Amino acid sequence: MIDVRKLAEPGSSEETLLEKIDLKRLPKHIAVIMDGNGRWARARHLPRVEGHRAGIASVREIVETAARLELGVMTLYAFSVENWKRPRYEVATLMMLLKEYLRKELQTLMENNIRFLPIGRIDGLDPSVQRELRYAQEKTAENSGLLFQIALNYGGRAEIVDTCNRIMATLREKEMTDAVIDEAFFSDHLYTANVDDPDLLIRTSGELRVSNFLLWQIAYAEIHVTKVLWPDFRRKHLFEAILDFQSRERRYGGVEPSDAEMFVEADDAASS
Ligand code: FPP
Repeated sequence: MIDVRKLAEPGSSEETLLEKIDLKRLPKHIAVIMDGNGRWARARHLPRVEGHRAGIASVREIVETAARLELGVMTLYAFSVENWKRPRYEVATLMMLLKEYLRKELQTLMENNIRFLPIGRIDGLDPSVQRELRYAQEKTAENSGLLFQIALNYGGRAEIVDTCNRIMATLREKEMTDAVIDEAFFSDHLYTANVDDPDLLIRTSGELRVSNFLLWQIAYAEIHVTKVLWPDFRRKHLFEAILDFQSRERRYGGVEPSDAEMFVEADDAASS
């Protein structure tokens, strides 16, 4: 049962937003492109890495809120395959912040029954980072609440290529030379096998791009873009994104049920 008292202070702007949300129609999986850390820092005449450091507070609040809302999955895009092009110091700081986050927050993840799972080319990360990730993953493996996925050294195209290679390995191993691949089989070999696709994709800082994030999985996701920079993104902004999601009409390439009835009536009239 969702405890709304843990989600908003009485009389707060969060409470006003929360009252408008239909708790029975929440997204099952929210994916977030956390963007704008550099701009947040620049606006304060701070080094870029201070934007990343400030972004950790947003990560903490958003993950905790997702758990309290009893969402199924939250996936955060923390480091892309392209991010290695950034200055060495920035990459090193991001990795250091990640390790620090995992060490400090593991207890909170456990208390909130959150299961942690890194996705991406994890074996391309520094061994010390891999160790911390593995430790957090193993410690939280039996938790049954929110699945918190963090995309690291991640690229949507890289994932599709890795998926093809995994499929080829399976087919070789099982000597399935005549196999015909369908969408379900392909999905089962993605990094996100067994996880529902995101139904809501949030991007902060106003850019209208998907930046190579979960390319296969976002096929039918609703996209919410906010101008808010990631370090300023708080619970109320997540509520706004969910309200935006609930205002959309999701048809998956079909038509609205009322329109479908009209077609049936028209077909009946034509055939009688
Ligand atoms: C994009 O902002 C943000 C990133 C590349 C990294 C996001 C990382 C964090 C929030 C911290 C580490 C995460 C965890 C989960 C511990 P940008 O630098 O591209 O911003 P800009 O577009 O304004 O330059």
